[in-house]
Amino acid sequence: MVILRAYRPDDLDALYRICLETGDAGRDATPLHNDPLLLGHIYSAPYGALEPNNVFVAEDEDGVAGYVVGTHDSVRFSQKLEAEWWPQLRQHYANARGMTDMDRGRIATIMQPHGSPAELVEPYPAHIHMNLLPRLRGQRIGTKLLDMWIDQARSAGVRGIHLGASATNEGGIAFWSRSGFNRLPVGGGAVWFGITL
Ligand SMILES: CC(C)(COP(=O)(O)OP(=O)(O)OC[C@H]1O[C@@H](n2cnc3c(N)ncnc32)[C@H](O)[C@@H]1OP(=O)(O)O)[C@@H](O)C(=O)NCCC(=O)NCCS
Repeated sequence: MVILRAYRPDDLDALYRICLETGDAGRDATPLHNDPLLLGHIYSAPYGALEPNNVFVAEDEDGVAGYVVGTHDSVRFSQKLEAEWWPQLRQHYANARGMTDMDRGRIATIMQPHGSPAELVEPYPAHIHMNLLPRLRGQRIGTKLLDMWIDQARSAGVRGIHLGASATNEGGIAFWSRSGFNRLPVGGGAVWFGITL
């Protein structure tokens, strides 16, 4: 049985683990990284740490195996990251050794985060990331987690949500397209989607 519930602080390790195990365009990114925390530092953990009310998880008998994380206000979240999240990581990774190319790319992001394209943030101020381990996929759990997140955002007066998917993540792209998100004509390495609430 799978339970969908609000985030708790002791879910933080699961946010890191799931992010890594789905971080290669939906596939396990463990072989690509010597540092197993780097992906989570960017794409999952800061939401649990800084915006825990905007995180929902899916848990089965073997533990937490999926999440949706996000923020209602991408600009304010970037400011929070600059104040409360990036500084200690920048210090930690300043002299990092023994890293893979992927690790070095993630460290570059921590040193100089790119954020979302500016033209998306005005019409779609919120953004999300959703990741499920393979054992939970294809059972509409992603759809239910997304509905929970959207219901809460709508109640809070959020007017739109954007997200970026890796161009090679065909499953993710199919999911967002079928979940009411519009593919947006924005350049860069990712495929961008938005939905108006
Ligand atoms: C993408 C993901 C969140 C979808 O969650 P899910 O619970 O597996 O999806 P659902 O069962 O709710 O599917 C909803 C719809 O999306 C479609 N869909 C979901 N995954 C799909 C896939 N891999 N290929 C094609 N269609 C897919 C379903 O067929 C379904 O369509 P329908 O309404 O016509 O039946 C989940 O598979 C996942 O976490 N994947 C790995 C990480 C990832 O890629 N995250 C997104 C990063 S942008």
